[in-house]
Amino acid sequence: MKMIVAVIKPSRLEFVRDALLDEGILGMTVSDVRGYGRQKGQVEQYRGSQMQIDFLPKIKLEVVVPSNLLEKALKLIRDAARTDHIGDGKIFVLDLENVIRIRTGEEGHAAI
Ligand SMILES: Nc1ncnc2c1ncn2[C@@H]1O[C@H](COP(=O)(O)OP(=O)(O)OP(=O)(O)O)[C@@H](O)[C@H]1O
Ligand SMILES: [Mg+2]
Repeated sequence: MKMIVAVIKPSRLEFVRDALLDEGILGMTVSDVRGYGRQKGQVEQYRGSQMQIDFLPKIKLEVVVPSNLLEKALKLIRDAARTDHIGDGKIFVLDLENVIRIRTGEEGHAAI
């Protein structure tokens, strides 16, 4: 199992959610976060780089998928989140040891 952590533009959240739902990938945790990437939160790089860093609002998604759905999920997220502008975000992929569905006690793949 894999955990996908994606930091995206807030305006792309609905597209990403719908893309995953359309493909039957169910379950997602969403958080409002703030962050910066290579431009240090500046919309445009100023010459030099001694400018103050701004934290820009982003959405963090956490989606757990069976490993065989990883590539599909990554493509769906990337395609739906992409605007081709800076700040489109980043996707992190982590190995996930276990999942426990609290109501039923199921574990692993059955619990996703
Ligand atoms: N190395 C990182 N570690 C943790 N979070 C990061 C990292 N890089 C980016 N992020 C998160 O992703 C958000 C979006 O990053 P962003 O898309 O600006 O990355 P970038 O590398 O600057 O790419 P781009 O040049 O397309 O803007 C940041 O606001 C931050 O929350
Ligand atoms: Mg950036």
